[in-house]
Amino acid sequence: TTPIVVAIDGPAASGKGTLSQRVAQAFGFAHLDTGVLYRAVGLSVLRAGGDPADTAAAAQAALALTPDHPILREVELRTDEAAQAASKVAAVPEVRAALLDFQRRFTQHPPGGAPGSVLDGRDIGTVVCPDASAKLFVTASLEVRAERRLKELRTRGIPAIPSDVLEDMKARDARDSQRAVAPLRPAVDAFVLDTSALSADEVFDQAVAYIGSKT
Ligand code: C5P
Repeated sequence: TTPIVVAIDGPAASGKGTLSQRVAQAFGFAHLDTGVLYRAVGLSVLRAGGDPADTAAAAQAALALTPDHPILREVELRTDEAAQAASKVAAVPEVRAALLDFQRRFTQHPPGGAPGSVLDGRDIGTVVCPDASAKLFVTASLEVRAERRLKELRTRGIPAIPSDVLEDMKARDARDSQRAVAPLRPAVDAFVLDTSALSADEVFDQAVAYIGSKT
C-alpha cells in the first residue's frame, strides 16, 4: 500500500510549521519541513563563498544534500540570512528538481516505517505531491505573520526591528509567489485555512477534522 501524504503549504510565519508537527504527531506520521531543505542549500552556497542566485553553485549544493547531511540539523538554518538565501536558490529549476527527488523518496519510505507523512512547504500540494490524500493551504495576513515572526525572534533573544521584519517578509512573499517555477499558490483542491484570527488549537482542530474526512 502507498503511504498516506498530507500536504501543508503556505507563506512564511503562517503557522504551518507548528501545525504540521502537531498533525504528524496526532496521526503517527513522519514530518518533513521542506523549507529546511532550501535553507540548507542556501546556507551551503553562502558558506562556500558563493552566490545563492548562481545556478551552478546552487544546483551542486542541492545534489549534495542527502537525508543524513549534518547541515540539516544546524540551528543556523533558522536565521533570516538562511531564509533569504533559501528563497533565492528556490528559484533555480535544477535545485527544485534535485529536492523533488529527496521529497518523493521521503513520502515513499517515511522514516521509522510510519504509515504516512506530513510535508510542509510552498508547492507540496501543487507540484511535489499532487496526489496527496489531504491538502491544506495555511495563510494569514501579512501584518499578523510579521507580528508572529517578531515574537518568535524576540523569544529566541534575536534583536529585530518591526519594519525590517515586515519588509523582509514582503520581499520573500513576492519572490515565492512570483517565481516562474512552482510559485506559492493554493492547489485547486486544497482546504484554505486563514489563521489570522484563530488560535493554534483552533487551527489544529479544523485541520484534524478536514484530514480525518479525507483519509
Ligand atoms: O518555509 P521556510 O520559510 O523555511 O522556507 C524558506 C524558503 O524556501 C521559502 O521562502 C521558499 O523560497 C523556499 N521553499 C520553497 N518550496 C518549499 C519550501 C520552501 O520554495 N516547498
